[in-house]
Amino acid sequence: MAKKSLVTGITGQDGSYLAELLLEKGCQVYGLIRRSSNEPTDRIQHLLDKIQLLDGDLTDQSSLDQAIQTSQPDEVYNLAAQSFVPTSWNQPVLTADVTGLGVVRLLESLRKYKPNAKFYQASSSEMFGKVKETPQKETTPFHPRSPYGVAKVYAHYITINYRESYDLFACSGICFNHESPRRGLEFVTRKITHTAAQIKLGKAKELSLGNLEAARDWGFAGDYVQAMWLMLQQEKPEDYVIATGKAHTVREVVEIAFDEIGLPWKKYVKNDKKLYRPAEVDYLLGDSTKAQQKLHWKPETSFEKLIRMMVKHDLKIVQQETTYPLPALKE
Ligand code: NAP
Ligand code: GDD
Repeated sequence: MAKKSLVTGITGQDGSYLAELLLEKGCQVYGLIRRSSNEPTDRIQHLLDKIQLLDGDLTDQSSLDQAIQTSQPDEVYNLAAQSFVPTSWNQPVLTADVTGLGVVRLLESLRKYKPNAKFYQASSSEMFGKVKETPQKETTPFHPRSPYGVAKVYAHYITINYRESYDLFACSGICFNHESPRRGLEFVTRKITHTAAQIKLGKAKELSLGNLEAARDWGFAGDYVQAMWLMLQQEKPEDYVIATGKAHTVREVVEIAFDEIGLPWKKYVKNDKKLYRPAEVDYLLGDSTKAQQKLHWKPETSFEKLIRMMVKHDLKIVQQETTYPLPALKE
């Protein structure tokens, strides 16, 4: 019988790649989707006839109970979160509620209705924040620098606690930044590749950025969802760092993106102090030795290939973009 997998955050970047992978593996895929006044299914449009969507929200316990009871999943991947770090300073309570408490709500549903399901939590390298050692591994202490990072630390420890308290198969992937052509436009890599494409095609004049010297260990989301799946195929639940082991600055992303479009970046990139964060994470670099040894996972896509892939994709979509005027109040 096909394995049943429930993915929260299925409409997000990772959710869409993971849903594709799970279908390839022959799973019956359920996705949690929250109410929206607009169509939120752009990234999974091509999968809609192959998956089942269940209404729910991580802030609403009864909807999670219902989703678990309806899907009776063998595996649950919790990818849903308020995931944009700057928003977490403007909406710290909402971020704590969704990204932090949302996880204990989901674990409670599992404990009550499907305790033998395997559970994956999307932990984050933002938990390392002001780093205590470099590179960061599973045992590196946390020092989060944003309300988002703090919420993820709670989520991480409550996952461990449910594993230890109730013997649930619950584990976390501590994923470093991962990007793709499906990345939200507000995250820095996609902001750069999409605006560069707009500049190339005459649809934007400049690119405003904050801290160009921040460095991240950037990988490809398509590679990272493989690691998530592998973690739930193991005999024992354990936490793993997922990273490429190479760090690059925001400036390097800009250099590659503008090289791809053949324009000099210094002419177009403006520094905007408003885009700096109240507390910055300066340098993240992950050590994924454990995942490589135990899961036999390794990243396949290089940083440069990733950024060039994103620019190429953005050139195509910016080219096709047309603005449809809203219908008038009275025709
Ligand atoms: P994303 O594109 O922002 O997707 C977030 C998903 O969460 C969307 O499907 C969103 O739904 C859903 N969501 C938000 N609030 C919700 C709520 N209250 N109830 C139910 N669903 C809700 O994020 P991503 O990049 O795919 O990341 C996936 C997960 O990995 C997140 O937990 C993120 O924090 C974590 N993570 C990401 C990275 C990375 O570099 N990408 C690294 C480490 C950890 P809508 O479509 O309706 O907004
Ligand atoms: N978003 C953004 N916009 N970031 C900028 C900008 C800008 O205009 N200019 C400079 N940056 C810098 C930020 O200050 C940060 O140091 C870096 O670019 C990366 O920012 P984001 O792409 O927004 O990602 P993030 O590292 O804050 O968070 C992402 O990765 C985490 C894992 O470490 C998100 O995906 C989180 O959900 C994830 O947990």
